[in-house]
Amino acid sequence: MPTIENPTAKTLAEQGVTTAAAIPSLFAEVRARFDTEIARAHDETNWNMTKVMWLGRKSGILAQITDNWLKPAPPDLKRAVGAGLNDLRAHVESQIESRRQAIESGADQSALAHEHIDLSLPGVTRPIGSHHLIRQVFQQIEDIFVSIGFSVVEGPEIETPYYNFEALNIPEFHPVRDDMDTFYLDLPKGAPTPLLLRTHTSPMQIRTMEKRQPPVRVIVPGKVYRRDNPDATHSFIFHQVEGLAVDSDITFCDFTGTIEYFVKQFFGPGVKTRFRPSYFPFTEPSVEFDVSCIFCGGSGTAASGGTCSKCKGAGWIELFGAGMVDPAVYGFVKYDAKKVSGFAFGMGIDRLAMLKYQIDDIQVFFQNDVRFLRQFP
Ligand code: FA5
Repeated sequence: MPTIENPTAKTLAEQGVTTAAAIPSLFAEVRARFDTEIARAHDETNWNMTKVMWLGRKSGILAQITDNWLKPAPPDLKRAVGAGLNDLRAHVESQIESRRQAIESGADQSALAHEHIDLSLPGVTRPIGSHHLIRQVFQQIEDIFVSIGFSVVEGPEIETPYYNFEALNIPEFHPVRDDMDTFYLDLPKGAPTPLLLRTHTSPMQIRTMEKRQPPVRVIVPGKVYRRDNPDATHSFIFHQVEGLAVDSDITFCDFTGTIEYFVKQFFGPGVKTRFRPSYFPFTEPSVEFDVSCIFCGGSGTAASGGTCSKCKGAGWIELFGAGMVDPAVYGFVKYDAKKVSGFAFGMGIDRLAMLKYQIDDIQVFFQNDVRFLRQFP
């Protein structure tokens, strides 16, 4: 802004100017100063400052000249001051405008230079994520069962004791409940029923049969929860796929044939299966399915010559529980146990994935370490 030395801050009388002849040189000095300043305005900010400094209505230099030179000028100087001021104003305004245009077109050019695209450069690669291994295994299992006529259904992870236990023929105080200790929700007093995190996907057997009449052929992928202490093969949250097939004429042969087909599709044609008697309150008879050890080829002997550490020399690895649906269960869903028969199974997906991909610690599925995840693109 103009300082006290600035002649435009003083009246002509204060500067000792008394003749019209001295006026043009006064304006020439001011104009030279303007020319220097406008030439330095290379960007919009500087241009704006210069414009305000010269054309600002109240304290711009042209306003000062009007107030300090023109208005108090004696009548014999007024005409010369007025003419000089008009010339100066026209010059300042036109220069400011042409500077604006220069800055704008200059800015455009530099923006163009900025956005210039070199088509010969390699493109930007954006890393694409992949499905978690558990999700991939779910997908493989779904594909196999869908290809033989099963459909996929899902159900709630928060269940009532009725669906998780009672309707599956596990009454209160049945010892099997101890193996499936889980997490109960804190509910307000007076809640109609306790709620828990489901311990298996089997409640969906009941929910499906309540809704559908036979024939029923479904698989149920999902998360389940148990108060198990974490170790290499146990987690308090894990994944299961339930299977249920009920029709008028399903036999134990259909059951073993279906499971065998699945296992060969999933692990490869080289594996063998066997079943052993087991116990589940909701299947009768119940079995445990084993697969020949995929690490030692079923021989029980490791490649190094010692005992296979995975199957502990047995040549077999336990896969999952299954069985023919217990007639008592049909009573809970109003199916006629004399007219229908079927089978059910429940696989632990984490353990299946560990076997297939030779992973020796279940915890890696939940740690989400990208160095592990990247091995399964
Ligand atoms: C059941 O959960 C039954 N609902 C399975 C079933 C369904 C039987 C239908 C008959 C008919 P079980 O408790 O054995 O069964 O669990 C099934 C599988 O879940 C096990 O074979 C194992 O692979 C897996 N599993 C069990 N507990 C854990 C755990 N804490 N961490 C990881 N996987 C587990």
